[in-house]
This record gives sequence, C-alpha cells and structure tokens, in this order.
Amino acid sequence: MPEIRLLDKSVAELIAAGEVIERPSSVIKELVENSIDAGARHITVEIKHGGISYMRITDDGCGIAYEQMPTAFLRHATSKIRTGDDLTGIMTMGFRGEALASVAAVAKIEMMSRRAEDELGGRYVIEGSEEKEHECCGCPAGTTIMIKELFYNTPARLKFLKKDISEGNFIAATVDRLALSHPDISFKFIRDNKSVRMTSGDGSLLSAAKAVFGRQFADSLIPVDFSLNGIDVSGYASSPLFCRNSRSMQTFFVNTRYIKSTTCMAALEEAYRNSMMVGKFPACILEITLAPDTIDVNVHPAKTEIRFAYEKPVFDAVYFAVKNALVNAADDRRQIELEKPKKYDNAGDYFKSNPEIIKREQQTLPHIPVTPAPVNNECPAETADPEEISEPVKAKTIYGSGQVRSVSLHSSHTDYIARAEKPQEAYDIPLPEEPPTAPAFTAVSGKVVVAVDDDDIGSICAESTDDIPLREAPPIKDDGFKFINTQPVRVEKINEPTPEKVNIRVIGEFLRTYILCEVGEELIIIDKHAAHERIRFEKLKEEFITTSQLLIDKTELKLSAAEYEALHEYYEYVEQSGIELVFCDDCIVQITAMPSVISCSPTEIVTDVARRLMNAATEQKGALFDDMLHTMACKSAIKAHDKTDIVELQALAERVINDKTIRFCPHGRPVMTSLSKYKIEHFFNRS
Ligand SMILES: Nc1ncnc2c1ncn2[C@@H]1O[C@H](COP(=O)(O)OP(=O)(O)OP(=O)(O)O)[C@@H](O)[C@H]1O
Ligand SMILES: [Mg+2]
Repeated sequence: MPEIRLLDKSVAELIAAGEVIERPSSVIKELVENSIDAGARHITVEIKHGGISYMRITDDGCGIAYEQMPTAFLRHATSKIRTGDDLTGIMTMGFRGEALASVAAVAKIEMMSRRAEDELGGRYVIEGSEEKEHECCGCPAGTTIMIKELFYNTPARLKFLKKDISEGNFIAATVDRLALSHPDISFKFIRDNKSVRMTSGDGSLLSAAKAVFGRQFADSLIPVDFSLNGIDVSGYASSPLFCRNSRSMQTFFVNTRYIKSTTCMAALEEAYRNSMMVGKFPACILEITLAPDTIDVNVHPAKTEIRFAYEKPVFDAVYFAVKNALVNAADDRRQIELEKPKKYDNAGDYFKSNPEIIKREQQTLPHIPVTPAPVNNECPAETADPEEISEPVKAKTIYGSGQVRSVSLHSSHTDYIARAEKPQEAYDIPLPEEPPTAPAFTAVSGKVVVAVDDDDIGSICAESTDDIPLREAPPIKDDGFKFINTQPVRVEKINEPTPEKVNIRVIGEFLRTYILCEVGEELIIIDKHAAHERIRFEKLKEEFITTSQLLIDKTELKLSAAEYEALHEYYEYVEQSGIELVFCDDCIVQITAMPSVISCSPTEIVTDVARRLMNAATEQKGALFDDMLHTMACKSAIKAHDKTDIVELQALAERVINDKTIRFCPHGRPVMTSLSKYKIEHFFNRS
C-alpha cells in the first residue's frame, strides 16, 4: 500500500470545486443565485462561446464592501448563515459559502462591486484561487463578475465539455429556470453579442413564462393555486391537449429553488392520468411553498436536490392542486383552426384569379368520396380487439351487474364484459328527464364538481348547484383507485354564477362517428365513442368500489409463490378496489368480497390481478385497476360507425357538453372540439 499523504491545498480546492462546478451553466447558476440573494432587481447574463471563454453577470444588488472582497472567495465564507441551527430554516439560495471559492479555483475571475452607500467600489482579480489584484475603483452600485477561461487549469474537465452550442443551451435553460423562479426580477440574457431573452420583472409568472416559452404555449397554460396542510402550490400546468414527448418542460420550484423531484413529478402525472395520451407528458411551472424546516436543501453541493421531511403531504398538495385546476379548466374546448388562403384575404379576388379552382371545386364537389373512418382508433393497440372494433357492435353487449360469469382473463383481449342482463343500462342513453333530486358532489377542493349517474344524462346541466346538498366524497375517487389522501380535502362551495341553460341542438352525425351540434353560436363536434367510453369508465369506477359485496361462498384460491407475494405486497391497491382477501398458509388466499360489477369468476379476477401486479412497474401498480376498467369501458361503449338514434345522440351530446369531467376518453383522446361562428364567418369572409 503506498504512503498516505495529505493533499496539497490547491489539489483539494480543485476536487472540491469539481463538485460544485460541473460545467459553465453551474457557474451561471451559482453566480445568479448570489445576485438573487443580494436583492437584485435586474440581472444581466452575458456569455460567449458557450460560456467557456467568457461569462459576465451584472446585478444591481447590495454589493460587497471593498475589504470583504477577498473573504468572499474563501471556502466556507458566507454572509447567509452563522450557526448549525440556521441550516434548518434556509431561505436564501446559497448558504454553503463555497461557490465563489469553487469558481475561483478553476477559472480567471474579475469582480467589480460597490455598495450603494459607498462612494467607491472595489476591483478584485483572482486566478486559480490566487489573488492577482485588489484595488479601489469607481463602478455602478451592485456587482459585476467576469469569468474567463473556465477550467483552464483542469484540462480533464475541459475535455468533457460539449460543443459551445450545447453548453450555451445548458446556460440558456438555467437562465430560463432562474427567471421563472423569480418573476419579480428582470433577467436579460445575451449570447454571443445577441440579446436572446428578456423578462420584465413585473412579478407575473405568466409574463415570465411568455418570455421563456413563447406566447402560444403560455396561453395554453392552466392556472394552479391551491393550499393543503400548510403547503401552497401555485403556478401553471399545461392543458392536457398541449402535452409533450418528454418531461423536459416540467419545472418545479420549492421555496423559489429549482429542484428535481420524483415526488412532484409523480404527483403531477398522476393528476393527468386518464386525460392525457399514453406516452405523453404534461408540462408545468409549479412553485411549492412550505415551511423551510420541513425540507433539507443541504443534500448535494449543487443544491438542486432537496429532501422533504414528509413526502406524502407534498405529493398530495401537488396532486390536488393540479387535479383541481384541470377539472376547473375542463370546459375549455379546443377550437378547430380554419386556414384561410394566405395571399388573398378577399375570397372574390381569390376565385377571380384562380378560375381553375372554381372549375375543380365544381367538378369535385358532387363526388366527395365517403371515406370510411379509421377503424382501429377505439382502443389502444394493446387492448383493442380489431375485429370487434371494425365490426359494428349490436346493441346488446352491455356491461351488466350482478351475475358472476366465467370469462377467460388470460387471453390478450381480456374480456370483462358480462353478457347483458340489463341491456339498456349501458348502451341506451336515456332521454333527458327531470333533474335528479340529489346529485352527488365530488369535492376535489376549492370548487365543486357535479358527479352524476349515467341515468342522469342530459338532466343536470342547467340546474343551479346552489341548492344541492353537498356530499363529501373521497377526493381521489374522481380519478383512479389509489386513495392518496389520508385526510379529507376541504370542500368549499364557490359562489359562481349559475350557468345559463344552453340550448343544444344535434344537427346530425358525420361518418356515424362524430355528433355535430349547434350550441349557441358554436358548432360542437363530439367523438361519440370517446365520449361514451369516458362516461362508462366513470360509472364503472364508481360501481367498482361501491358494489363490493361479501361473498357468501368464500372461495379459496391456490396461487404461485410469486403471485401470492405480489398480492400481499400490494394488497393496499387490491383492497381499495373492493376486493377483499384473507391470506392463508401455503400460498392460499380466501376471497371474501368482490365488486358485483365484475362479471367473471372471483378466482379468475384475483389471479389476473396478481399477474398484473407482478408484471407492472412499481409506479404503475396503482393504475392497474384503471387499466382493467379502460378495457371494460372501451368494450361496452358505443362504437364509431354504430347506428345511433338521434334521441340517443341528443342525450349523449347534452351529457358531454354539460359535464366538464367528460373532456377526454380514458386513453386521453379528446372527446370534443368546436368551431365558433367567428371562425366560420371569418373563413367565408363574412365577418
Ligand atoms: N453578487 C453578489 N452581491 C453581493 N454579495 C455577494 C454576491 N456574490 C457573492 N456575495 C457574497 O459573497 C459570499 C460568498 O458567496 P458564495 O456564493 O461563495 O457563498 P454563498 O452564496 O454564501 O453560499 P453557496 O456556496 O451555497 O452559494 C456570499 O455569502 C455573499 O455575502
Ligand atoms: Mg452563492
């Protein structure tokens, strides 16, 4: 074993610096955070060549006293904490006292700073941790730091940097996040002599989001504002229609610090479950504010990870905040964009100068081919039964209740559909009737959401919610079987104006797939299968839990060791769905209760659930019953191309238009869209 020696101070410095400064964007993060802590109102970041050769940060913060400048560059020198106790309530971005020392160890730095109360400021030059110059100078109040030749003395680190353009992009993303976390500060970002980003600093997160992500994306954002158990969650979440292919636009701040948190991410995505296309991800800018002594920010030198003392309340707060916002925003309808011929605003001119077009239109109009609608769009590939979908389903296949039948659960097209006992229940949509006497409210929080039965189709929309008694429901019940919240969520009635009764006139059906309705001055188009699928799904979910019945004949089932283990480990989910088991010796379970809506044998259901639990990824276990219900709902819903009575179409349209919860099918496809009078008239040059 070679001799053990104490490292040189300079080598130790380089090693320590390596933990804080990974790349140019780490320098920007640390120095801008210092400017924020210094109370700056304006921060300018300027870089050249991806920041590797040049970075400059200018702020109008409190400045550093001339004689304190060398101290600021010493490791463990900070003005932000004093004692160990201060570590439990950190409200500043920095506190470790090592960022400036770390940058100084691996770069050439020139700093100029002046406090507003001083006549003269100071200039300080430090290279590779060695002081080079320190002198008085005249400069504006605030601090300017210039970093040149980053990693000039650590070639190994330099070698691992990406191209200038990529490093510049990392910096841009860092500046964006800092700007979003502090909308009250005006940020300016200059890249290779070009000003590429500027936020106003007017305190509005939306205006910062517009500057960062662009107006179109910002306009699609749904505001989030919610408190639960002392945790405030505010900001914006993307509309389910504007989902992304990756998680890159999920931005979480905790007490204004940008963090990466799987808890927050999971809560966000859980809130979008069943309203977003599979494989897509929501975007968000969420600020989570909680007591500083309930988080530990001292986890990593880069300070981008934090530990929550209690994860679950944070999960709950984010989940309910987003869920609530989505429910409240659900009546936004995606508008169809009608494209006008660009060059000719005046249609007369357009046709005059394009006589060919008139001829072509005249020839083709009478022969518009009737294109068959896509046949395979009803279920996602893994659950769809292509045969069943392409063929119109007779009005007899219904999801019934009561009888338990033996249906194979292990085929690829798992069939949970009971053969009709009450054929009208699922397929025949009843006519609008009298308003229900006491519809239930499902409280997500803050606002009141009306939960209705299938039987209530079309009858609830116009009724004032003011006189309807509140029934508090388990908050998560509105979406999924995983009861996340341990405490009931505050149920508050919002004094909203009574919605006006809208007149819904079904004009007809397009391709036997889309219902066309006139609603006020809008043309609404509804995908009848997607809409009915969602209605069935919600109904099944409700029944699934509420119809759990004790079995008179307690069935025993022998499982494999792995199946038994899976059921045992995730029994929480199984139980929440109304299936009750007693775990006996020798891998035997006794089935004591089962939702009566399940129309297969209890042993088959339990075996299937065990297998699904074994195979699903950990984070998907909670979604397991949703998947089963998706399949059931999809199969029992009206299909595209089915012949549907106009009365049924009218009832379905009324139910959909008036119930905000029916905006996406359980697989996340939109249920309806609209075309406004304005858009149509604009297109035809009538407006
Ligand atoms: N732009 C600035 N304006 C005013 N003071 C500053 C500025 N930058 C740094 N300082 C002072 O220099 C000190 C050292 O900064 P440094 O970034 O090294 O440590 P820190 O911010 O306290 O903690 P951390 O290492 O976690 O960032 C700060 O505590 C602060 O007092
Ligand atoms: Mg700092």
